[in-house]
Parts: sequence; C-alpha cells; structure tokens
Amino acid sequence: GLDAYPQPRKGIIMDFRYFRREAVLMGLLIAGVIVWQVINRSPAQTPVQASLMLVPAPTQAVLLKGEFTPGPGLRVLWSGESAESEARFFAGWLAGYTGFEIPVEEAQPGQEPANRILFRLVREVELSPEGYRLDISTEGIEISAVGAAGLFYATQTLRQMLDDGPGLPACSLLDTPAFSWRGLLLDASRHFWTPDQVRRVIDQLAYHKMNVLHWHLTDDQGWRLAVELQPRLAQHAAWRTEPDGSRYGGFYTAEQVREIVAYAAQRHVTVVPEIEMPGHSQAALAAYPELSCTGGPHEVWNDWGVSKEIFCAGNEATFLFLQSVLVKVTGLFPSAYVHLGGDEVPVARWEACPRCEERRLELELPDAHALQSWFLRRIADSLALQNRQVIGWDETAEGPLLHPQAIVQVWRDMDFAEAAIRSGHRVIASPTSHAYFDYGLESIDLKKVFEFNPVPEAFRGRREAALVLGGAANAWSEHIPDQAALDDRLFPRLLAMAEVLWHGPGAMAWPDFHVGVQHHYNRLEKLGIAFGAETVPLRFESAVGAGGGLDIRLIPGMPDADIFYVEGRTVPDSTDRKVSGDTAGSTPIRFSRGDHSITARAYRRGRPSGETITREFRLHAALGVAPKLAVPWTAPYDGGGAGALTDGRLGTDQFRDGIWQGYFGADLDATLDLGVAVTVDSVLLGAFQYINSWIFLPRRVRVYAGTIQGNLELISIADNPVSPHERNRFVRTFVAAFPAKEVRYIRVVAESLGTCPAWHEAAGNPAWLFIDEIAVR
Ligand code: ACM
Ligand code: ZN
Repeated sequence: GLDAYPQPRKGIIMDFRYFRREAVLMGLLIAGVIVWQVINRSPAQTPVQASLMLVPAPTQAVLLKGEFTPGPGLRVLWSGESAESEARFFAGWLAGYTGFEIPVEEAQPGQEPANRILFRLVREVELSPEGYRLDISTEGIEISAVGAAGLFYATQTLRQMLDDGPGLPACSLLDTPAFSWRGLLLDASRHFWTPDQVRRVIDQLAYHKMNVLHWHLTDDQGWRLAVELQPRLAQHAAWRTEPDGSRYGGFYTAEQVREIVAYAAQRHVTVVPEIEMPGHSQAALAAYPELSCTGGPHEVWNDWGVSKEIFCAGNEATFLFLQSVLVKVTGLFPSAYVHLGGDEVPVARWEACPRCEERRLELELPDAHALQSWFLRRIADSLALQNRQVIGWDETAEGPLLHPQAIVQVWRDMDFAEAAIRSGHRVIASPTSHAYFDYGLESIDLKKVFEFNPVPEAFRGRREAALVLGGAANAWSEHIPDQAALDDRLFPRLLAMAEVLWHGPGAMAWPDFHVGVQHHYNRLEKLGIAFGAETVPLRFESAVGAGGGLDIRLIPGMPDADIFYVEGRTVPDSTDRKVSGDTAGSTPIRFSRGDHSITARAYRRGRPSGETITREFRLHAALGVAPKLAVPWTAPYDGGGAGALTDGRLGTDQFRDGIWQGYFGADLDATLDLGVAVTVDSVLLGAFQYINSWIFLPRRVRVYAGTIQGNLELISIADNPVSPHERNRFVRTFVAAFPAKEVRYIRVVAESLGTCPAWHEAAGNPAWLFIDEIAVR
C-alpha cells in the first residue's frame, strides 16, 4: 500500500513537473484504495453491522474482527453462586437450539479459554444491577454482570444474534438499562388469555429486556383469579353472558398463577397483579351483590365502558372481602408491589348511599372523592403489614390520603407525573399519548412510541427524575380478542418501548432505530410473532375533481407496503388491483355520481398488514361547498376541518376515524350556498350513535331551503326512529325528502339531545352529536 510510495526527499527543492507527476500518482493511488475498499469491504461488513442491530440497542458496542460459532465441544462455565442457574438455563436453551449436548461446569482457575461461554459475577461499579458486559472473541464468550439479571440479559442478546445465524460477531458490549421498570399491562379481564398465551407474552418481554408483566386481573367484565374463600368469583364473576347469549370467560387457578409467576421469575420478569378497587368492580359485585351500595342484583358486564357499580365504602364486609382476596394475592405473587387500580371511579352510588354518607360524615371528609382516597389508604395500610407497597392509577394521587410509599402510574397525561413527583411519589409512566397499545396507529404509531419519554419535561436532567421508575405499555383488551390481534397491537410498537426504557429516550436517532427494526423483523418472524404495521398502512386521499367528481388515491403508509383494492365491499386479495410503494403519478380512482365504496388492504413481507378497510363515498350537488356553521364543531373531532361535511367521504363505524365531526351539547346548524340555483329533492345526513361514549343520534333533522339568503323555508323534517337506549355502535343516514325544488341556499339543523338522558350513566352531562356528510341531491 501507501508505504511503497516514494517519499518527498528532504532538502531538495521540487521541480514543478516532478511535483505534478507525484500528485497525479498519489491521486490515482488514493482512488485505487477507495475503489478497493468499496469493492471488498462494504459487502463483507454489512452482515457484521446488521448483527449488532439489537433491539433494544446496547449502551456501548465495539465491533471486532471475526466471529464465534457455537459448535460441538462447547462448554458453559460459571463463576459466582447465582451465575450457576443462569448458566444452566441458557445452556439448556442453547442445547435445544443447536441440537448438541452442552456440559455446564463451575469455572476453574487457569482453564483453557477456548470454546466456552463463561458466566461470571463481578463487582464493577459501571454496571447497574441489571447491566452486563458481553465479550465475544473468535475463541469464545465471556459474560460479566453484578447480578443474575444482567447475566440473563446478556443471554437474550446472544439469542437475538443467534436468530441472525450461527456465527456470533466478535464484539465487546457494555449494556445497562436507563430505567428499572420496563412494563407491559396485559388486560385479562376484557378478554381472557390462557396460561400458555401469558407465558408467550413473558417470553416476548424477556427477549426485549422488559421486566414487568402488569397483569390486569379484575374489571367490570370479568374476575380472573380463583380465591377459595370466595368461590363465587371463579363460579360467577369469571363468566359473562355476551349480547348474543354465548358465555365468555375463564379464570386462573392458584396452581396456574404459581407456574406463571415462576416461569416469569426465571426470565427476570416480575408479575405485578392488579386487583381493581373501588371501581371497575362490577364482575365481583355480580358475584357478591351485598358488597355494592344498592345490594344488586348485578350482571358481569357485557359491554365496554365504565360501570357505575362500585364497592360500598360504608360496608365493613367490603374490606373483609378485599383483605381476604389480597391475602391470597400476596401469597401467590412475590412482587413487592400490588396494583390497586383506583382509576375512573364514578361516585354517584356513594353519594346516594346512606352507609357511605354516614362513613363520610364520621371521617369528616369533604366529599365522596375523598372517601375514595380513604378507601385506598385503608387497603394500602393493610398491605403494608404484609410488606407490600401499592401502585395506583393517577386518580389516586388526587386524593388527600395517598399512602406515602404509593407509586403513581400515570395514564391520563404526563402533567400528573409532574404533580406526583412534586409530592415526592415514585412514578411509572404509561400515558394515553404514547403508551396505549390498544389505540390505533393513527394516534400511536411506532415513531410516536419511539418519541416517548417517561420523565416529565420539567424534571429531565434533574435529581427528581430518579423518582420515575420507568414506563409501561398498556394493552387493554376490549378490542384485542385473540393472540393474532395481540401480536398485531404489541409489535412492532413494543420494540420502541423497549428501546426507550432500556437504552433511554433520545439515545438513538430514529432513522438508525428504524433500520434496526427492519432487521429485527426477521427475528420476530422466527419467533412466530405476527407483527402488525409500523404506521397506518394505507390512507385514502380524496379531492373534488373537475366537473364535481371525486378523485380518490390510496397511499401506502410504509415504503415496502403494497395495497390491493376492490370497488365494493368484498375482501381484496393479491389478484386485485394494486398500488405500491411510491404512488406519485398513479392515476386516481374517479367517481362522477352515486354512492361508492372501496375496500383495501395493505400487504408487507408477503402477508396482510393492518385491517381490511372499507371507505364509502357519496357524490352530490353540494360536494366541495364548505358550510357556514352557526355553532362551531368541538375539538378534537373536526372531521378534517371546514369542508369535512361536504367532502364526499363518509364517516365509518369508528367515531375516532378523523372523518366524523363532533358537536358537544349543541345542535348542528349548517347553511350551504350552492352558488347557483339547482333542482334538488332530498338532503341526506349521516349521524353516529354509541351511547357508551355519550354519542346520540339527533332527535330529528330539519331542512330549510330557498333561493334568497335570509329567506329560507322549512321544507322537510326527518325524525329519528331509533331509541336513544340502543347500545350498539352504528351509523344512520337521515333522509329529508321534499318535492323537487330549485334552491341555492340550504340550511340543515340536526337537533342534539343537549344532555345525556336521566337514565344514562352520564345523566346531565352534555351529549355528543357526530355528523358526517350533508349530501344534497
Ligand atoms: C385506565 O386506562 N383507565 C387506567
Ligand atoms: Zn355504599
């Protein structure tokens, strides 16, 4: 190489021509070296770099030359007492993975370093309790940690590398987590997960160096823990009758719980049980109605939402029951923490209950909300005697009597984290903004989770940040009925959560993480994880085109996605029409009149990604005419803004689809100016009902029309034939017909109920009106 190049001779003044020749030769040589590097080194290096695309990424990584391939003759050695169990556990796994015998022995001084994996407990100040150092050379592997957890996490790194291929890249890693609480909430109440499915989730957590399974075991829709002294919990509270008459449910026996807890412990996952109180308890009250304020009867709820049935705070039997349940819980779960829930407690029953009122007066508490604080404090005090600390959702931090040792799990907003820290409490952050994995990708996609920071802004880089134990992803299961749906909601978003909680927020740039995720998909496929999409896999864009038609484009949300679609409602497959990758220049789908629908599905890596989506379109005379609104819509339900009601695209069966326009406690009162007089004979108005979310159809729709502004006559009324009690979630189109008429101005008034009716759980609160598309024909 460069050594052979003639050096300029000192002391000799170079002749210009000679210098030029030297420079040209030098240039040619450098160019040659670069070409040689490009040809030879880049392709050889790619797989090595790819092998270190671990999720979460290690804290420090140095790549060395060569690799180590575990093969016959490999021994696993351990040094330091608690290293033995980690060494044996990994050797057992590796023997199964490679198919050859792997002896496990205690390390002896002066042993041959070749062809071994050494598990070593050390005292190194740079390693946190869960951190590890991993040194892979061409000879063998050495793992050092201060505790068993660190040794275990090193083995999970090795597993990820082995899932890339048998040769492990020589490297030196120092890896230590940013947060000690790296959790996932699994909701077993709304949908039940078999013990095998729970173990599968624990495996997935461990592989990504997460360490808490927050097991949501009780709620309005089912109680999942068998307790011998309260047999009606398993017999009755664990089962609900679905609206179609079928029975749904299940529970865990003590034996199953013990097995799951032990399985998790071997993988350094702590199982934290959540027993909800005083709200979210209708299932327990269906089994033991005497513990409710009214005495029942109650059913295990078969709908989603927040029940108003809560444990009676004035009845001593409530506390005997809960204390007996919690004795069972602390017997089964070694976790230092018990989660008591404490979220979303409607106090209407307490306010109307003489026993609760008597209790409140006796305790001199200002209101029923303070009674909740007292309730949870009483339970926390009794758990303290069993050497357990409590966790509660952020509502519990609003009361005056929060236990000083209580941990606050933030869900509504990070402002509550700030408040809890200011009052000296420890915090786990799982805000709806970033950590709700039951939410759709339109609100929380992979990048959004990657941007999560569990430390509230005010405390970043400050001492108080130490009160933030970490964070958790919450998989509420109302809309996660089975394992395929669970995989789809957890992945790939859990990768970003693992990255943020282990490596730390902002430790990595998004593009690098994103490349790592693409690589990590191969590993997830090996694990049989049916991961979902990174972001909304397909969007519909529509625009009012020339001549009043509608131009629709399908936009893939990811560059490697293909979209297949059909007109109509049949499910598309890979023989249907296709839009792929970059859609710039693709011709739009054009409709010129009538009602239409398009059904589309994205495919990635040979399988469907995200759900099959149907969108409906309605063409009409007022397309593209922005209405004048007497009362503005209510944020955040803007439906897309000023033109949303006449853009031709219709709201779907999901009221958060971004297409519906919401009005809180008010009528819709919209006036359209068609610009010129047009002969029409009907106005169609779409509205939504889902009373669990306080959304009611309008009482009726009135239509006024005319050719002179300010002089419109009432020409049609469409009444609502549907009962406001109807619990389903559905769209209804109101048709206001009239004899054909020439009009320029049309005013549409959809009358809101104003407030939720007296019989409704939110009686007296404003009612929502959700409107989409005012179509004039
Ligand atoms: C919650 O989502 N209600 C904690
Ligand atoms: Zn009561």
